[in-house]
Amino acid sequence: MSTRPRTPAPNAPAPGKLPITDLVAMKGRGEQIVMVTAYDAPGGRLADEAGIDLVLVGDSAAMVVLGYDSTVPTTMDELLVLTRAVTRGARRPLVIADLPFGSYQVSDEQAVTSGIRFLKEAGAEAVKIEGGGTTIARARALVQAGIPVCGHLGLTPQTATALGGFKAQGRSAAKALALVEDALALEAAGCFLLVLEAVPEAVARRISEALTIPTIGIGAGAGCNGQVLVWHDLLGLYDGHAPRFVKQYAQLSGTILGALESYATEVRSGAFPAAQHTYNIPEEELAAFEEGLAALLFRSSP
Ligand code: KIV
Repeated sequence: MSTRPRTPAPNAPAPGKLPITDLVAMKGRGEQIVMVTAYDAPGGRLADEAGIDLVLVGDSAAMVVLGYDSTVPTTMDELLVLTRAVTRGARRPLVIADLPFGSYQVSDEQAVTSGIRFLKEAGAEAVKIEGGGTTIARARALVQAGIPVCGHLGLTPQTATALGGFKAQGRSAAKALALVEDALALEAAGCFLLVLEAVPEAVARRISEALTIPTIGIGAGAGCNGQVLVWHDLLGLYDGHAPRFVKQYAQLSGTILGALESYATEVRSGAFPAAQHTYNIPEEELAAFEEGLAALLFRSSP
């Protein structure tokens, strides 16, 4: 009797999905991996159409979408909704969801429970957690539970206060070596990918060389195995402070502002809506309607 399952395993990749195992092969071939954040279904769909490899539903959503001052306040419920939207739009890219602050720090069990929710309820393929130290045990627990994990070292926004603010990390020999140790430990824990944020290029390059798994840089220079940018930074949609590592590929907030102002002007002047934006009713139906309306208003007048 065949032991082959008739239906795919519950967490088998969806058809057409970039296999997670391809990432190491891409690193081996020297092919840069492209990652972008997204927070809704149109974003996921556009990233897919643009041929982006990885979509991160970052907890940067807290600041660029939800209007918080930092990533700390955002919740599981908020990020689950955004992740579910992104996975409805992104077919081929792997979707990685950030576990929000407070959803994995307490214990391995808490981390696994949170990770499972992102896979089961939101359709993510993997989760990302920040830091070294105790996060390494969390990464191991998640991986052992069958949840692919992306690490995140360097500037870790969830603990930026403890790091002394939003500033580059690993700028002394001792701190750079500590980053290498954490990176190797996260790889040994089973992480399939590592984000390096705001790390000197020379250090990020050596970490990338020391690891088998790929690194994705944001403010970590060209020696990483791929790059990630935040959607709103890349597209010029965020008015807050942009770090030096941001490159804007469009200035959409100006375009959107112009469109909204034109809309407001046209509504106020009566130029919108025009005939082509409205629906017609056949002449005879309109005449009957007018007749019926006159009778109805007459009956209901005092
Ligand atoms: O939350 C986020 O968008 C991130 C990226 C900056 C890597 O963690």
